[in-house]
Amino acid sequence: MRPVALITGGTRGIGAGIATNLGRDGFTLALAGRRNEKENESFLKSLRDLGNPVRYFQCEIGNPDDRKAMLKKVEEIFGTIDVLVNNAGIAPSQRADILEASEESFEELIGTNLKGPHFLTQAVARLMIRTRPSGESQRCIINIGSVSATVASVNRGDYCISKAGIAMATRLWAVRLAEHGIAVYEVRPGIIQTDMTEGVKEKYDRMIENGLLLERRWGTPEDVGRAVRALARGDIPYATGAVIMIDGGLTVPRL
Ligand SMILES: NC(=O)c1ccc[n+]([C@@H]2O[C@H](COP(=O)([O-])OP(=O)(O)OC[C@H]3O[C@@H](n4cnc5c(N)ncnc54)[C@H](OP(=O)(O)O)[C@@H]3O)[C@@H](O)[C@H]2O)c1
Repeated sequence: MRPVALITGGTRGIGAGIATNLGRDGFTLALAGRRNEKENESFLKSLRDLGNPVRYFQCEIGNPDDRKAMLKKVEEIFGTIDVLVNNAGIAPSQRADILEASEESFEELIGTNLKGPHFLTQAVARLMIRTRPSGESQRCIINIGSVSATVASVNRGDYCISKAGIAMATRLWAVRLAEHGIAVYEVRPGIIQTDMTEGVKEKYDRMIENGLLLERRWGTPEDVGRAVRALARGDIPYATGAVIMIDGGLTVPRL
């Protein structure tokens, strides 16, 4: 039986890199996002061409009713979930100094980047506990965090706080789900070339050129996708609760 992976934000940017890598590896794919299915048609076709069952679910991840409806459909169609990748996330629509930043932005960031994944994890964990796995491999939950969990950017404090929260959520769920044989990991990307970083491309181009990273290039969705695939396949055993850095050395302390 093919294992079933649910990937939020799985049709664009880092999520697309993850879906492509898991698709190449024979996973059945359930993908979720805000846009409607038609807008994702060509990407979904490219995944189906790999030979796997692929379904798309329109779901606002911060909305409890949307999450519930999506999981009901996923269970009806596929019976269970073996791997959850909490990838969907947003940056603030406007970067603003924390002396000025609004409560509305904070609520939006926390709702999408922290509350949504936390309660989706809760619901998927319950589903995993009461259903049989598709195959032999260990079930797992993988959170896409960010170096912003530890690197302070005062012009997007809400984003940093949401990602620091995800780091703790990873630990909490690793502890709680260990007795059920479900591993929980965080994959922590640095600067990855996607729509999210398009607006700050020139700034980061310059910083990378000036030695910000040990590996002097932008990260790619493929870099993150390969790390997630290794975890999802069980290639990194005995590591629940681990944080896998995919940041080109950005966070290595230096003098
Ligand atoms: N890019 C980076 O440098 C970087 C670095 C570290 C961490 N990350 C994290 O990596 C993850 C993916 O980022 P990305 O760069 O790939 O971003 P992206 O290109 O902007 O794509 C974001 C994805 O998340 C989905 N999404 C956003 N808000 C959603 C919501 N409320 N409900 C459901 N789906 C939602 C989007 O769905 P639609 O396509 O339907 O809009 C899209 O598929 C995020 O958690 C981000 O914080 C990114």
